[in-house]
Amino acid sequence: MVQIKTAKVSFNDDGTPFSAEFDDIYFDSNQGCSQSVQVFVEANNIPHVWQDHSEDSFVIVETGFGTGLNFLLTLDRFVKFKQQSNSALTLHFISTEKFPLTKNDLATALALWPEYAKYSSELLSHYDLQEEQLTVSFADIDVSLTILFSDSTKALASLNIPGQGLVDCFYLDGFSPVKNPEMWNKGLFLQLARIAKKNATLATFTVAGIVRRGLEEVGFKVSKLAHDKADIQNNERLAEKSQSLTATFKGLRKGKPLTGFKVREKVESSKHATIIGGGLASACVALALAKKGIQVTLLCKDENLAQGASSNAIGAIYPLLHQNKDTISNFYQLGFERSLTLYQDLLAQGYKFSHGFNGLIEVSYKEALVKRQAVFAKNQVWPENLIQAITAQQVNDISGVGVNHPGLYMPRAGWVCPPEVVNAITQAAIDTGKVKVKTKRTLVAIKALENDRWLITTQKGQKQEQKQVQNLILCTGADSLQIDALNDLPLSIVRGQVSQMKTNEKINNLKTVLCHKGYLTPVNNSVHCIGATFDKDDADLSSRSIDDTYNIEMLERCLGDIGHWTDEDVITSKARLRCCTPDHLPVVGRLPEIDLHKQYYAHLSKDKNWHYQQVAPLKNGLYVLTGLGARGLCSAPLLADILAAEICNEDYPVDEEMLFNLSPNRFVIRDLIKSKS
Ligand SMILES: Cc1cc2nc3c(=O)[nH]c(=O)nc-3n(C[C@H](O)[C@H](O)[C@H](O)COP(=O)(O)OP(=O)(O)OC[C@H]3O[C@@H](n4cnc5c(N)ncnc54)[C@H](O)[C@@H]3O)c2cc1C
Ligand SMILES: C[S@@+](CC[C@H](N)C(=O)[O-])C[C@H]1O[C@@H](n2cnc3c(N)ncnc32)[C@H](O)[C@@H]1O
Repeated sequence: MVQIKTAKVSFNDDGTPFSAEFDDIYFDSNQGCSQSVQVFVEANNIPHVWQDHSEDSFVIVETGFGTGLNFLLTLDRFVKFKQQSNSALTLHFISTEKFPLTKNDLATALALWPEYAKYSSELLSHYDLQEEQLTVSFADIDVSLTILFSDSTKALASLNIPGQGLVDCFYLDGFSPVKNPEMWNKGLFLQLARIAKKNATLATFTVAGIVRRGLEEVGFKVSKLAHDKADIQNNERLAEKSQSLTATFKGLRKGKPLTGFKVREKVESSKHATIIGGGLASACVALALAKKGIQVTLLCKDENLAQGASSNAIGAIYPLLHQNKDTISNFYQLGFERSLTLYQDLLAQGYKFSHGFNGLIEVSYKEALVKRQAVFAKNQVWPENLIQAITAQQVNDISGVGVNHPGLYMPRAGWVCPPEVVNAITQAAIDTGKVKVKTKRTLVAIKALENDRWLITTQKGQKQEQKQVQNLILCTGADSLQIDALNDLPLSIVRGQVSQMKTNEKINNLKTVLCHKGYLTPVNNSVHCIGATFDKDDADLSSRSIDDTYNIEMLERCLGDIGHWTDEDVITSKARLRCCTPDHLPVVGRLPEIDLHKQYYAHLSKDKNWHYQQVAPLKNGLYVLTGLGARGLCSAPLLADILAAEICNEDYPVDEEMLFNLSPNRFVIRDLIKSKS
C-alpha cells in the first residue's frame, strides 16, 4: 500500500471544484464543458484524427487527471466515433495525478455532468487510491484508462517506450504554471519528448512563456490558438489571454541543446539529510547543507572523526594543473579557490587547525619536468598568483633550502593538518545548530522504500538499528568499495604510507611544501611528513618499515639528501587508502539507475553524438561524494557545494559540462559509447 496525498477540494456555488492549495479551479463550468472541449479535445483535432489513424491503438497522455472531465469528454467522442465508423481502433488514456480527489469529491464533481453518468459511475466503481496506479478497462468500447498517482515527470519517466514512441496526443493540464511551478519543469518537457511519437499533437490551456519555450526546446513546434471572445467570457483559466497552445512533436534532434543524460533533473527540496562518513567529504557536506538550513545527521563508524584517509598528519593543498586548461585542471582550479576561501573563513571565525599557506613548489627535478615547466611558461594559460615558473635560485630562496632545481611555484598553496580541518569544519557545522554527529555507527545495509525514502541499517557494537531517511549521502571514502549501492562505480583503492620525520637544522628552515614524485612538508610540531607510497589494490593499513625506507629514498633520488634522513629518523608512519576513479575526477551527485540508462541511451553505442532528450534516470534521495583520490583537501569544499545545491534545488556552482564530468552516471554513459554495436 502506498501513501497518496489526496487533494483538498471545495466546491464553488455553481459546483465547480476548487483547490485552495493551488488557488485554482479544476475546470471552468460557465459554459458547460466547452472550455475543456475546445482547449484539449478539439485542439488535438479529436475525433477527426481517429479517422486517419493507421495503427490499432491511439494513446493519449494527460497531466493532471483531476476530476477526469477531460477523460470523460474524450471517451464520449470515442464512443460516438466508433458507432459511426465501425473502426476497430482502441484508445489508451494515460493520466498522471499527484493529488487525487477522494472518491466522495470525485462523485460530487462528476455529478455536474449527468450526460456522462454511465461512464462516470463506471469510473467511480473502480476508483481506488490503494495502489500507485489504477487501470480501468471499458472493454465493450475498447477503452482503457491508466492513472499514475504520482508527480507527472516521475510518472511519465516510468513508462516503457517502444522505439517509435508511445504517445499520439497530449493533454497538458495541471494548475497554472504561476500557481504550480513545480510541475512545469524542464524534466517534464524532456519526458514528453521521450514518450512522444513523431508528429504527436499536444494541447494546453496555458500560453505561459516557460511552457512555450520548454516545449520548443525539446522538439515541439508550438502555435497559439485563438478563442472566440464569447467562449472566454467569465472564463478564469482563459480570462487573461484569449488564447491557448497547440504543438506538434517534430522528433529527436542531433546536437545541441544539452543531451538529456547530462541534465540533472530538479529534485523536490527537503529539510533533512543523513550523511555516512567522518572524513573531509562528509564534514564539508554537513557544513554546506547546514548553512542552507538542512537538518543533518552524520553517522561515522569510528569512535572519532577523521580516522580514514583524512587522518594524515599533514596534507598539501594545491590544484592539479596541466599545461592547458582541460577538464581536470579547470575543476581543480575552481576547487582550490573554494577550498582556500573555506579554510580561511574558518580561521577568521576562530576555528583552529595547524596550517601554512606559504606556497608550494613542484620541483622540476628531471629533464622531462624541466621541459614541462617550459611549456607552462610558454603557454601562460594560468594566472601568476595560481602557478608560475621559477628558476633554481628562486626555488632555493622561496623554499629556504638548497633544492637547486627550477620549479613551478604556487604562491597561495600550502598545507593543513587534515584531521584538525575535519574537526574544525564539523564543529562549524555543529555550531549552526543543524548538525548531529553520531560515532561508532556503521552503515551495514541500504534498502529503497517507496516515496523515495531509504531504509538504513546501522550497527553500534552488537546492536542494529533501522531508520527511514529522506536524503542519504554516502561519503565513505575507500570503504565505498564495500557498499553495494556503489558497486556500479568504477572505484579503486590505492594504499599510501606517509612517514613522519624528525626535524633537524638542515631542513627546519623549509618554508614551502616541496612536491617531487612525492612530497615533503615544512615542520609542524617538530615533524616533517614525507611520502607517499602508491600501491594499487592493497588494503593493508599496517605501517611497513620498507615503505618508510622507500619514502626516504624517493625523496633522496628526486631532491638529493635534503633532509639528511635515515630510517632512524622516522618517528611514526601511517598507511591509509585513497579512493580513486579512472578519470582522476571525483564523483558527486545522485546515483544512476544503471539498467534504465542502458535501456534509454542504447543508441549511443551506434552514435556517440546521438541527442537524447530523456533526462538521466537517477535514484531519488541517494547521493554519493567520493573518489577524492589524492586531492581531497582541494576538491571537497566545492564538491560539497555542488551536492548542497542539488539537494536544495539551487543553481550549481559549476557549469553543466563540469557537472556531468563529476556525475556518477558518466561512467555508464561512457561504457555505452565504448560498447559500439
Ligand atoms: C597517504 C595519503 C596521502 C594523501 N595526501 C594528500 C594531500 O597531500 N593532499 C590532499 O589534498 N589529499 C591527500 N590525500 C587524499 C585525502 O586524504 C583524501 O582525498 C580525503 O581525505 C578523502 O576524504 P573522504 O572523506 O572522502 O574519505 P575518508 O577520510 O577516508 O573518510 C571516510 C569516512 O567514512 C567513514 N565510513 C566509511 N564506511 C562507513 C560505514 N559503512 N558506516 C559509517 N561510516 C563509514 C569512515 O569511518 C571515514 O571516517 C592523501 C591520501 C592518502 C591515503
Ligand atoms: C486543473 S486540474 C486538472 C483537471 C483535469 N484534467 C480534469 O479534467 O478535471 C490540475 C490537476 O493537476 C494535478 N497536479 C498538480 N500538480 C501535479 C503534479 N506535479 N503531477 C501530477 N499532477 C499534478 C492537480 O492535483 C489537479 O488534479
